[in-house]
Amino acid sequence: MSEAGRVYLEGVAGDGSIARRNRDDWDRWSIVPRVLRQVGPADARSEVLGILSSAPVWVAPVAAQGLGHPEAEVAVARAARAAGLPIVLSQAASRDAEDVAAAAGVYLQQIYLPEHRPAIEPFLDRVVAAGAAGVVLTVDQPASPHVHPFRLAAAAARPLVSPRRPPLPEGTPPAGALHVADIAWLAARTGLPVLVKGVLHPDDARAAVEAGAAGVVVSNHGGRQIGGSITSARALPAVAAAVAARAAVLTDSGIDDADDVFRAVALGADAVLIGRPVVRALWDGGEDAAAALLAELRDEFAHSLQLAGYEDVAALRRAGRGALRALDGPEQKEER
Ligand code: FNR
Repeated sequence: MSEAGRVYLEGVAGDGSIARRNRDDWDRWSIVPRVLRQVGPADARSEVLGILSSAPVWVAPVAAQGLGHPEAEVAVARAARAAGLPIVLSQAASRDAEDVAAAAGVYLQQIYLPEHRPAIEPFLDRVVAAGAAGVVLTVDQPASPHVHPFRLAAAAARPLVSPRRPPLPEGTPPAGALHVADIAWLAARTGLPVLVKGVLHPDDARAAVEAGAAGVVVSNHGGRQIGGSITSARALPAVAAAVAARAAVLTDSGIDDADDVFRAVALGADAVLIGRPVVRALWDGGEDAAAALLAELRDEFAHSLQLAGYEDVAALRRAGRGALRALDGPEQKEER
């Protein structure tokens, strides 16, 4: 893969420390196994908004995967299907939504709403026709004059794929200012459940759900927006407490192994999204490596469930934070 591709994929905002904090804040929750419970092989399957998957793991929308692999998101869709997991396709993907939907098991479409809403309507029609199970409205990347240098790296790198049918007409500014009313508009326009991605404050989660969101994704965009941002691991419990009874709660940013999936579920998530690890695997080892990574995540999660004494995802959800212990430290007290 090109150096520019690597810079683009790994980039974060600020001084770079958010990449470490995103991972470490999951790790500071220790799993406390329960034993003598007669738990056989665990059932790792999950159902979120009627979407079935072999584990509570979805593939995150990551733009421009054609910078490192010719089949890009189509290869990832096949890998996800092989592992029994859904894929959320980026609006700025390298491949057409129709091709990804055909290769995927379950496909959802991520959306950035342009200032001029009608510009995206033909694409929304394509998404519905392609059989999307839901739309994921990303709200943490409004139009901004500031473009981080790592995003410019993508422009410098040459994609390996052939041209696609763009979601927006040539020259449309990519994202506009958003309002809660956009959620109901998108739901009505597509007839699909809308998940709002990039929520970190419980009041915003409440507002999104009251405005018609079927779910929220607790995410700091993999640390790519605000370098000093709160991490998902810290934001998730309060967001889940605010809306989990009424809406689906997903999370991402810094989740890189099955124990992190376990921690996220115990902290209130119905499922997690995995971003960079999948793309790294695709770019370094191809579709087989991406498929192996996802299958391993699924199997290791089932294994962690069993070893920790939970027969299925619902049992872990019921145990909640009781399945974990925060590592000691003054800053952790507030969460206990
Ligand atoms: C992203 N992310 C993202 N999110 C989104 O809603 N639409 C998009 O097009 C993209 N594009 C994108 C490109 C790259 C290179 C990265 C690294 C990330 C954010 C992504 O969906 C997810 O929130 C984070 O990647 C999660 O963090 P991890 O799993 O990468 O740590």
